Amino acid sequence: MEKENHNNQPAKLGRRDVLKGLATLPVLGILGYGVWKKEKYTNLKNKELSLELDLGYEPPVLHPIPPPRDSRTIRLGIIGYGGRGEHLVRAAGFAHPSVIDEWKKGAKENKNDKRYEDYLAQEDLNVVLAGVCDVFTVRSKRAMEASANLHREGTEGKMEKPAKVYKNYKELLADPEIDAVIIATPDHWHAQMAMDAARAGKHVYVEKGMTRTVDEAFALRKTVEETGIVFQLGHQGRQTESY
Ligand SMILES: NC(=O)c1ccc[n+]([C@@H]2O[C@H](COP(=O)([O-])OP(=O)(O)OC[C@H]3O[C@@H](n4cnc5c(N)ncnc54)[C@H](O)[C@@H]3O)[C@@H](O)[C@H]2O)c1
Repeated sequence: MEKENHNNQPAKLGRRDVLKGLATLPVLGILGYGVWKKEKYTNLKNKELSLELDLGYEPPVLHPIPPPRDSRTIRLGIIGYGGRGEHLVRAAGFAHPSVIDEWKKGAKENKNDKRYEDYLAQEDLNVVLAGVCDVFTVRSKRAMEASANLHREGTEGKMEKPAKVYKNYKELLADPEIDAVIIATPDHWHAQMAMDAARAGKHVYVEKGMTRTVDEAFALRKTVEETGIVFQLGHQGRQTESY
């Protein structure tokens, strides 16, 4: 074996050089494994992220609105199905099937876990979740799945026809087959969406904060009075006994 000396002449490699070279092999091995592991992790992360960001996701098929059960059934539309929207829709009787699974599991493991039992005993509000609009299609798909869960059996259970999905809230408001809306989008949308809904003749439940400015609050009050819709502001903090 040869190496170059300071005169740029090939020189013989000694036993010490060979041993030194061999000693670097495990280090290279560890480095290589590290790079492979990092790449695997990055790929996994990218996959997760693309699922989370909904890249490559196919928009859900539009279904006809489920018919009302009787003339008093309220056909509800949800605008904004994030954390709060999901909670409200669940309170209206439409839990996502995966939530039912979780409750059932909880009840199996702990007899004091009454979430599923309480949910089944919940009063029938005579509403159908007829329309869904969330700009994030992962969320609108989840809402759609909740709307189909009429039998409340979980992911293995029987599903009914899901709600209609709208690309934007104005399309949902324009649909004569929606009677009332829950607005649970971020704050800056509340006043505009609530006024648009009232003008479209829909009853409104809107989350707090109701408006961003006092002027908006007066404008919204005027619109509600003029249109004669039923309006409610969701402000649970103010409705608790402790408050
Ligand atoms: N009453 C309460 O006790 C209570 C508790 C928590 C939150 N809130 C209120 O509820 C609202 C929502 O909060 P969150 O925590 O669910 O937020 P979130 O970000 O989890 O959900 C908001 C949803 O609205 C969707 N969205 C945004 N712009 C939209 C648009 N133009 N059209 C349709 N969908 C749109 C988003 O994609 C998201 O899914 C906030 O205004 C918050 O103040 C009230």
